Amino acid sequence: MNKNFYITTPIYYANAKPHIGHAYTTIAADVLARFHKLQGDKVFFLTGMDEHGMKIQKVAQTQGKDPQKFVDEIAGEFQNLWKKLDIKYDNFIRTTDKKHKAAIQKVLQMLKDEGAIYKGKYEGLYCVGCEQFKNENELVDGKCPDHDMASEIMQEECYLMKMTSIQDDLIKKIESNEFEIAPEKYKNEILSFLKTQVLKDISVSRKNLPWGIPLPFDKEHTTYVWIDALLNYLTGIGWDGDLKNIPDQWPVDVNLIGKDILRVHATIWPAILMHLGIKLPKMLFTHGHILSGGKKMSKTLGNVISIDEMLEKFGTDGTRYLLLASGSFGQDIDVTMERMVEKYNADLANGLGNLVSRVIKLAEKFNYEIKSGYDPIQWNKGFFESFWIDKALVRIWENIISKSNRYIDDNKPWELQKNNSEKFQEVMQKLISELYLISELLIPFMPETAEKIKKALETKKVEPLFQRIK
Ligand code: MSP
Repeated sequence: MNKNFYITTPIYYANAKPHIGHAYTTIAADVLARFHKLQGDKVFFLTGMDEHGMKIQKVAQTQGKDPQKFVDEIAGEFQNLWKKLDIKYDNFIRTTDKKHKAAIQKVLQMLKDEGAIYKGKYEGLYCVGCEQFKNENELVDGKCPDHDMASEIMQEECYLMKMTSIQDDLIKKIESNEFEIAPEKYKNEILSFLKTQVLKDISVSRKNLPWGIPLPFDKEHTTYVWIDALLNYLTGIGWDGDLKNIPDQWPVDVNLIGKDILRVHATIWPAILMHLGIKLPKMLFTHGHILSGGKKMSKTLGNVISIDEMLEKFGTDGTRYLLLASGSFGQDIDVTMERMVEKYNADLANGLGNLVSRVIKLAEKFNYEIKSGYDPIQWNKGFFESFWIDKALVRIWENIISKSNRYIDDNKPWELQKNNSEKFQEVMQKLISELYLISELLIPFMPETAEKIKKALETKKVEPLFQRIK
């Protein structure tokens, strides 16, 4: 029987066009999904859009657009980008989908009936950027450091979800890895937070915010956008909100997220599921942020790296490679356009591109067998189990690509061809086998390039894979 492998990205806010950070998470999820597919797993890869809430309502209003029309346009931009980046998802969930909305209403009714939700009042500082209430100690000069935005004081009647009742149980589930938070440092961060603070009950509804899903039991309120959004991980695989109909893919194997949304995913998300009696995700994997020149990207600093510009310069696979290979997955990575151009020239144009064109040219008049002595799945398996996506790439480049280029320089097959046919055959067969292995290993990371190398091996013809950039 094939194993299920269900992986998700966060659903992205439909308030603006996609950027490099969204691309980073989604490419990583795509690579993981593709590897598991190769391994024979029954893969489901979910991504999509988070389309309700105050932030989106405000932007649509400023632009004088109907919110639905506005989010439709943004969702289209995301889908376009995923196409350009060769992202092969199985579903693209949108929280304005009818079925999603109906399921959310069922869930809220269940939570209310069970007594997990009650009517009350909430007062606090709200950051519209995060769509979250903030504690004073999380703000710097009254502003949220993530959004450089003043928090608004909000006091309103709302419905609240009980958090304290699940706290001890949640700690146990995280400690035992029943609900695994990785990498370890994030698990420790969350555990120390949960052990030192009593979780406050959270507001699950908003009054006077029309752009949201109405509560089934009180039409004056709409659902708090995070409750609406987190449940996408269930509705995105077809859940209709009925506890009898939890889809087979559940529990999700990996909720892949950026560190900015770890706290919500490690508290509110499991709390909803625990109140409902639904199994928790097997793993929350948290990656770091992309920084530009050591700083958070911002228009004010003028250090924003555009994903469109990357695609134009480096192409699909070049962009996929550069984003993944520029730093450790799980930690912050710092990039600059200059360094990426250098890396593109060194690793892709000179390293891989050069190797492929040299070998194929030498192989023109030579009969060879297309095979490799290694099992590509086994080669990469350990790395993928540990989420060492970047390290897997480094290993391919150091252990095969660079080594093979050096092997050519040392053995000078163009001379052997003239004066030592036996040795020539041996050297060439080794190089062909290495190229074939490369093409197999690169499938999850750079699917188009992998295909081109395979084709070159079969037809003995090759176009330059990556042109040097000046
Ligand atoms: N809508 C919420 C998530 C709801 S999930 C139930 C949200 N959306 S977002 O549009 O702000 O996207 C956040 C995600 O984008 C991050 O968690 C991360 O995966 C990715 N990134 C955003 N900026 C990033 C970087 N600078 N670097 C890397 N990834 C980052 O939060």
